[in-house]
Amino acid sequence: MLTSRMVAVHYFVSVLVCVSYAQSLERFIAAVYEHAVILPDSTQTPVTKQEALELMNRNIDILENATKAAAQQGAHLIVTPEDGIYGWQFSRETISPYLEDIPDPDMNWIPCNDPKSQRYPARFGPAPVQTRLSCMAKDNSIYVVANMGDKKNCNISEAGCPNDGQFNYNTAVVYDSEGKLVARYHKQHLFLGEIQFNAPKEAEVVSFDTPFGRFGIFICFDILFYDPAVALVVDRNVDTILFPTAWMNVLPHLSAIEFHSAWAMGMGVNLLSSNTHSTSKRMTGSGIFSPENVGPYYYNMDTEDGHLVISELNAHPRNSSTYYSIKWNQHASTIKKYSSGTNVFKGSIFFDLFTFTELKEPEENYTICQNDLCCHLNYKRADYGKKKQNNEIYVLGAFDGLHVVEGQYYLQVCTLLKCLSSDLNTCGESVETASTKFKQFTLSGSFSTNYVFPEVLLNNVNLAPNLFKVMSDGRLVSKPAIATHPLLSVTLFGRLYEKDPVN
Ligand SMILES: *[C@@H]1O[C@H](CO)[C@@H](O)[C@H](O)[C@H]1NC(C)=O
Ligand SMILES: *[C@@H]1O[C@H](CO)[C@@H](O)[C@H](O)[C@H]1NC(C)=O
Ligand SMILES: *[C@@H]1O[C@H](CO)[C@@H](O)[C@H](O)[C@H]1NC(C)=O
Ligand SMILES: *[C@@H]1O[C@H](CO)[C@@H](O)[C@H](O)[C@H]1NC(C)=O
Repeated sequence: MLTSRMVAVHYFVSVLVCVSYAQSLERFIAAVYEHAVILPDSTQTPVTKQEALELMNRNIDILENATKAAAQQGAHLIVTPEDGIYGWQFSRETISPYLEDIPDPDMNWIPCNDPKSQRYPARFGPAPVQTRLSCMAKDNSIYVVANMGDKKNCNISEAGCPNDGQFNYNTAVVYDSEGKLVARYHKQHLFLGEIQFNAPKEAEVVSFDTPFGRFGIFICFDILFYDPAVALVVDRNVDTILFPTAWMNVLPHLSAIEFHSAWAMGMGVNLLSSNTHSTSKRMTGSGIFSPENVGPYYYNMDTEDGHLVISELNAHPRNSSTYYSIKWNQHASTIKKYSSGTNVFKGSIFFDLFTFTELKEPEENYTICQNDLCCHLNYKRADYGKKKQNNEIYVLGAFDGLHVVEGQYYLQVCTLLKCLSSDLNTCGESVETASTKFKQFTLSGSFSTNYVFPEVLLNNVNLAPNLFKVMSDGRLVSKPAIATHPLLSVTLFGRLYEKDPVN
């Protein structure tokens, strides 16, 4: 009995291995959908479960259309945004009717396969949202990534259990192309104002394998911290990150497409970033990013429309990528310091006090230091030789310290950026337009971390695909074609996770 069962199991497993081996893909097609969420009326009084479901169904209708369109174009997987099903701004009470109990993926549950008569309540309680997402995946034979609310009862007499007797989690779910729940991730780093949710006691490191590589998943603000974001890459060796987000853009360094493409490049993995779309909240910017390529992406502050981005990707970017082996401080630690220029001053970028020097010459080398970090820049303006054609001012800046507003995280940043006006007090404020072009630039820094994210931003908040590269010695170097594009900023955004405060 035992023996024949073991043989049967063994046979079954080897069939699976053969099938997945046969279907193993070197490349796959990914889709991300930027969704303009239909928001509930803001109210202090909880709506009924029925009203909550109606609102969620209206959002899922749109996500379902996007999923169909993606599948028709051959996509293997689609990512939809954080808060994409019910929006934001809830209390613990008002989020309650939107939550479902999401089981552990070990249950091998395909909600869409439960007989219709038994769906509500289903095996694990009422699950109308989970059932729709599962059917969306199954009916279109596509992996579906979505964000919803999970609830877990707890005993209020036990430590940590909230007074209302349940944990609420901001949760990412993944259904495979047969509709099976294959991943569930509870957001670790809740952002300011997410008072409706609890963070898990310890970061959950969630990964799963597919015929097109190993995937990891985390949500929004998580991307700024070590656990679980960096751990997925370093310990789990994932190829591709799934990243639902509701990201409020902050220039000059933390606009969604800018920072998320830089993270993919710095970590040497694919990152599929799906943002919500709300121009009044400065939420836009989704993309399919890889170590070699910043895009395709979508960024639109002019309309309120959602948008689908589709692209083919290398399933194993780390086989070919050299990014993980960059020695970020190698160049900077071998050269001698250049001059700091004649106009060194302090100025703040998103509440961090940088040391700046003004770029006064048409071409020059500068070094600017703060604490342990020295940043080196070599540049040549494209209008070299002519009279300066505008009064735009650029500075080189360095910051080595703890950022303490809207989250605490330790930074080492080297940046070249355009000031808002010719008043030096505006250097570091958000700027979206520029007309100055650079013929070439090289930026490097004496970083004491291996986690540095390279950002280049052009006029009107555009990325710079194929216009720059990062050398193995840590230099960020422009390519010749940069000379025809007005430049907003060039940044090496470094994170010293080990200096973050322990909470
Ligand atoms: C979904 O697509 C169908 C067919 O193109 C269209 O009739 C319907 O209005 C769309 N629904 C939503 C919610 O966008
Ligand atoms: C809750 O915990 C207390 C103390 O451990 C225990 O006495 C009680 O039975 C628990 N209640 C439930 C519903 O499990
Ligand atoms: C790429 O890496 C994956 C997983 O590490 C491996 O299975 C695959 O054979 C590699 N492909 C190539 C072309 O090296
Ligand atoms: C900048 O430094 C490089 C290397 O040290 C040197 O070749 C170049 O001439 C310098 N440029 C200027 C404008 O001084």
